[in-house]
Amino acid sequence: MRFRTRFRANMSSAQNNRERRNAEIAYRAALEGIVLLENDGTLPIHAGKIALYGAGASLTIKGGTGSGEVADRHDISIQEGLEQAGFVVTTQAWLDGYEKCYREGEAAHTKEVSRHFFKADFINFAGGTYRYPFGGLISQLDIASSDTDTAIYVVARQAGECADRRMENGDYELSHTELQNITLCAETYSKFILVINAGCSVDMSKIQNISGINAIIFFGQQGCQGGRAFADILTGKVSPSGKLTDTWSKNYSDIPFHDQYSYLNGNLEEEFYREGIFVGYRYFDTFGIEPQYPFGYGMSYTDFKIDVLSVAVDGTCGTVDTRVTNVGSHYSGKDVVQLYISCPNGTLSKEYQTLAAFGKTNVLAPGQQQMLRLPFDLQRLSSFSEAESAFLLEKGKYIVRVGEHSRSTKIAGVLSLTETVVVSRHKHICPQNLRIQELCGPERTEEMIPTDVPICTIDPHAFQTETFTYGEPSEQYSETVNSLLTGLTDDEKVKLLIGCGRGVYTNAIGSAGYTTGELLSKGIPNVCLADGPAGLRLQRVTTLMKNGLPRPGEMDQLGMLNYLPKILRKAMVGNVKKDLTLYQFTTAFPVETSLAQSWNTALAEEVGRAVSDEMSEYGVTYWLAPALNIHRNPLCGRNYEYFSEDPFLSGMFAAAVTRGVQSTPGNYVTLKHFCCNNQEENRNHTSANVSERTLREIYLRGFEYAVKESHPGAVMSPYNKLNGVYVNNSFTILTDVLRNEWGFDGIVMTDWNATGKGVGSHVIAIQSGNDLIMPGSKEAYNEIRNAVKSGQINADDLNRSAARVLEGVVNSQIYMEFTEDKYW
Ligand code: BGC
Repeated sequence: MRFRTRFRANMSSAQNNRERRNAEIAYRAALEGIVLLENDGTLPIHAGKIALYGAGASLTIKGGTGSGEVADRHDISIQEGLEQAGFVVTTQAWLDGYEKCYREGEAAHTKEVSRHFFKADFINFAGGTYRYPFGGLISQLDIASSDTDTAIYVVARQAGECADRRMENGDYELSHTELQNITLCAETYSKFILVINAGCSVDMSKIQNISGINAIIFFGQQGCQGGRAFADILTGKVSPSGKLTDTWSKNYSDIPFHDQYSYLNGNLEEEFYREGIFVGYRYFDTFGIEPQYPFGYGMSYTDFKIDVLSVAVDGTCGTVDTRVTNVGSHYSGKDVVQLYISCPNGTLSKEYQTLAAFGKTNVLAPGQQQMLRLPFDLQRLSSFSEAESAFLLEKGKYIVRVGEHSRSTKIAGVLSLTETVVVSRHKHICPQNLRIQELCGPERTEEMIPTDVPICTIDPHAFQTETFTYGEPSEQYSETVNSLLTGLTDDEKVKLLIGCGRGVYTNAIGSAGYTTGELLSKGIPNVCLADGPAGLRLQRVTTLMKNGLPRPGEMDQLGMLNYLPKILRKAMVGNVKKDLTLYQFTTAFPVETSLAQSWNTALAEEVGRAVSDEMSEYGVTYWLAPALNIHRNPLCGRNYEYFSEDPFLSGMFAAAVTRGVQSTPGNYVTLKHFCCNNQEENRNHTSANVSERTLREIYLRGFEYAVKESHPGAVMSPYNKLNGVYVNNSFTILTDVLRNEWGFDGIVMTDWNATGKGVGSHVIAIQSGNDLIMPGSKEAYNEIRNAVKSGQINADDLNRSAARVLEGVVNSQIYMEFTEDKYW
C-alpha cells in the first residue's frame, strides 16, 4: 500500500442518525420539487384502493445514470410510498409482469454491453444506459381485478452520461404501448392520474388528444424519498409547490433549430448555437410561441393572490415588495413569486423578458399572508455588445413584471433610464472560427403601461464601469503553503498537479479520485474527490482483501460496473460473508432539476449542508457538484444533473448549494462542467460554436453568479471544445474570464480523462489555468514534467497551480488530522 489511512467507512450496516436526518431533508426537497401540471379537481385523493401501472410505479427511477448516480441504502418507490400512506395497490399482477420484463431486459442489455467491453472505449461503455421497457398492454382482466375507479400510470425515462436522449417513440416521445395503456386507463377509470418520472421534459403532444386524464404530475427524479413525498402530495397532506425550471414545448419541433441538436444534426463534431440568447422561455416568450407548460409553471391545491406593495430603485439595486395571500379555503400551501424584467430593445435586440428575482413563501394557511421582498441587481440586466466589447444597460424603459410563471405576470412598475450605462468593459473572448448566423429577435411594439403603476428613475451615475486587468493573476498563498512549496522539487510539484483515480486509496472508497498520495513524507496528504450532483457517490458495501485493499462487496451498487464482463465481475467482488466488510451509506437527494423545481434556495442550501456532513463523515474534500450547464435542449442526456434553462436560476441554486457545502470549513464544491458541455454525444470531440454575446449572457452567466456569490473551492473544465478550442486548453476561459474577470481563486480540475491523446493537451491545460489533471496518468505526469524541464511550462505556472492545489489540501479536514497524526 502506498500510504496509511483510517477507514472511515462503518463496520456496521446499521442506519445512523446522520442518515436519518438527511433522509428527512431529501424528503422535504422531494415534496417541494414535484410539479402538478394538470388537475381538474380530482386531486387530492384519499388513500384507498388504487390501480397502479407503468414503468416507474414499482421501479421508480430515483436519478440518472453515470457519475450522477448515487448508491444509497434504499429508495422509496411510488408503490412503496403509496402503500406506506395507506393505499392498497390492486394491480400487483401487472406490476410483477413488468418487473419480470424489466429484469430480463436488463440482463440482456448488460450481456450485450459487456460483450463489447474490450472493444469499446469508456464512452460507449458509460453511455450504455439501460432504457426502461414499457411493460405489457393492460388487459381487461387487469382492469376488472383492480376493483377501483382510480388509477395512476407512471411513465419512466432513464438517461445519463455519454449519450443524448432520442427524439423518437419510446424515449422523448411516448411509446405506442404507453399511449395505448394511458388511453385505456383514461377511458376506463373515472379518476386517472398520469405521472412522469423523468429527469427532464417528455413529449406531451399526443397526451393532449386523450380525454379522461384528470391530473398530470411531473414527478421528476426525486432521490431516496420520492415515493413518500409523492403519496403526501397525492393525498393533499402537502400541497404541491414545485414550479418548472424549463419551458415544455407543445411539440419538439417548436424548439428553435431542434433538428440540429446532437445526433439529429448529422455532424457530431460541430454544434451551432444558432438560437443565440433565445434559449427556453427567452425564445418562446419573445417569438410568441405558445408552450405546453411555461417556464416557472406549477399548480397548487389552493390559490394565491400576489399584491405588489412597492417598486423602488436605490443606486444599482431594485426592490419589489409583495404580499402573498392564500385565498383558498381548504388547503395550506407555499407559493413562488417570480419577477421578470423586459429590457428595452436598443442597439441590441433583447429577449422579451428575463427572470430577475424570485422568492418562495412559507406554508400559508387559508387566509394567511406573507410579505416577500424581491431585490435585484440592475447590472445583471445588462446585455453584451460585441461591437463595444462591453456589458450595457441600454437607455429606455425596464418593465417589471410580477407573477406566478413566465406567462402569468402583471406589470408592477417601470424603471426608466435616460442614458445608456456601460456596466463593464471586457477583452474579446473565444473568436468563432465558424461564424454562425444567429436568430434575431423581432421588432417589439411599444407596450401600453397601466397608468397606476409606479415609475422609478434609475440614476445612470450610480454605476461605475468595471474594467479588468488580464493576464496571470497575482495571488497570495498562506504561509503553510509557501513553506511546503519551498520544500518541494519541481518533480514533486508536478506530482501535485496529477491526480489519481478510484481504487488506489481506501478513504471514501469508490470515490472518483484523489490528489496525489506520493508526498506524504513531505507533509502533504492526499485528499478525495467524489461525485455527484444528487448526492455523494461512494461504494456502498466494501470488503477488504488480505493485503488491506478494498473490493466492492456487491455488484449492482454502481450501475456502470454491471457492464464489466462476468469473469471480471466475479473476480472483483468480495465475499461479504467471509471478508471484513465496510459500509458507506450516503443519501440520494432529488436530481438537480427536481431540486431547482422547489424554487427554494434555502432548501438547496440545506441539501448542501447535508451533503457536507456526509463528506466529513467519509473524508471527501471536493464534491464534484453542483453541475450547472444550461438545459439548451430537452434531449441532452445529462439535463437531470443540471438545474434549468435559465442562467440566473441555475446560478442562484449553484450558489445556495455551495454555501451549504462550504459552511463546513475545508469542504469544497466543484462547479462543473465549465462551460458549454450541453451535448453528451461525442462529448470529447464536439465543438460548441457560440457567439461571444450568447456565451457571456447565457452560458457563462450562471457560473459567474455562483462564483461571485458563493466563492466555490473548485471548478471543473469540460470535455468539449468551444469555438474550436478545448475549453480545458483555453487560457481565455480559465484565466481571463474565470480568474481575471470574476475573481475565482480556487482550483480548476479537468473532467476525467479530458486531456491526453486526441483531446486537449495536458501541458496547455496547465498553461491555461487548469491546476489538476484528473484522474491523472503516468503519461500526463511525464508530459508535464518534460514541459517543466524544457521551460515550456514556466516556474510561475508550475508554482501557481501547485500552490492552488496545496491551498485546498492544507485547508481540508484531512490535513488537520494528518498534521495531528491521527490516522497516518
Ligand atoms: C463526468 C464528471 C464526473 C467525472 C468523475 C466524468 O465522466 O463528466 O461529471 O465528475 O466523470 O466521475
